[in-house]
Amino acid sequence: VTVLFHLGEMATATESLDEATFEILGEELGYKIEIVSPEDEDRELLEAFDIDLEGEEAAETEENLEPRPPVVTVMGHVDHGKTRLLDAIRRANVQGGEAGGITQHIGAYQVWGEHEGVNRAITFLDTPGHEAFTAMRARGAVVTDVAILVVAADDGIMPQTIEALNHAKAAGVPIVVAVNKIDAEGANPDKVRAQLTEYELIAEEYGGDTMFVNVSAKTGEGVRDVIDAVLLTADAELELTANPNKLARGTAIEAKLDKGRGSVATVLIQAGTLRVGDSIVAGTAYGRVRAMLDENGEHVEEALPSRPVQVQGLSSVPRAGDTFLVTEDDRTARQIAEKREAAERNAQLAKARKRMSLEDFTRA
Ligand code: GTP
Ligand code: MG
Repeated sequence: VTVLFHLGEMATATESLDEATFEILGEELGYKIEIVSPEDEDRELLEAFDIDLEGEEAAETEENLEPRPPVVTVMGHVDHGKTRLLDAIRRANVQGGEAGGITQHIGAYQVWGEHEGVNRAITFLDTPGHEAFTAMRARGAVVTDVAILVVAADDGIMPQTIEALNHAKAAGVPIVVAVNKIDAEGANPDKVRAQLTEYELIAEEYGGDTMFVNVSAKTGEGVRDVIDAVLLTADAELELTANPNKLARGTAIEAKLDKGRGSVATVLIQAGTLRVGDSIVAGTAYGRVRAMLDENGEHVEEALPSRPVQVQGLSSVPRAGDTFLVTEDDRTARQIAEKREAAERNAQLAKARKRMSLEDFTRA
């Protein structure tokens, strides 16, 4: 406080300082100041609670790991048919005919279907105007194993088509191209193939290694082929495993405040098993899993890796891309959330302070 005072900075001992001030202060006092990233800080925070996610992952052995379904994100330009394609995939795969009753739109669901005689699950994530994926990528969360790039054959590639494929590429996620609306007037699926060669997505029939599938979400033509292409891509490029026998970890996909049910968060389990009654922290939200619903609005007691579920019972609404983890007890979850919240608040205060002192400076 004294040194800061001499530097012309009035601060109390409990106050937050911005990075620049800290560096100057360090120089004055003969210390080397190292600014850690929010991720480093969070890792350290978790380590203080004996939680070491990276170490845990590295320690997984083959015996611990079990196969998990692929997680597939559907991306593409507005109105090119992402949601309708997912509906068609779902209809094609619902066991015992129609999907019964009211289907909740949770933007994420698991579909079971036969592939080469084997009954397999796939998890699909819908991206309304690709926002969730952008938010998640911005927060460093890559949850997708395969991306389906939907391009309407009557419209061709559009700005968000390119944006989506760049996101997938940057994340190193293999892409299957669904050339949709082949039933529509003016549909030109070959043009889509030609257009995408400019972005290094070259169809197999053009000598490249990207699977392109012509499909109509409206008539259902080609829907099966999309599923097959996704599974082939997943099997060819990826080893999809996770340890189901530990406390659950994963990522929040979307969340909202519901009038009757409070905070409702759709989370994707990435490792471990999530159970009703678990203590959980997601970003700065914490609580106990009061209830879990699947994509059909049915209650489930537990959820395995790659499973998306709606979780009720959190204290607040997490953001898309927030990671979640189950802790040993309620207290730990709450303390982690509170420490994160305090860190965020401090960062914001420091920013506001910086702005204010800058304003003072320019005014003077
Ligand atoms: P956003 O979520 O807003 O980005 O759109 P989306 O990509 O999810 O598109 P959506 O599935 O909502 O479809 C947009 C429109 O295209 C709707 O009117 C669909 O009925 C129509 N559509 C989707 N697929 C097909 C198709 O294969 N053929 C035809 N003719 N129309 C389709
Ligand atoms: Mg949609």
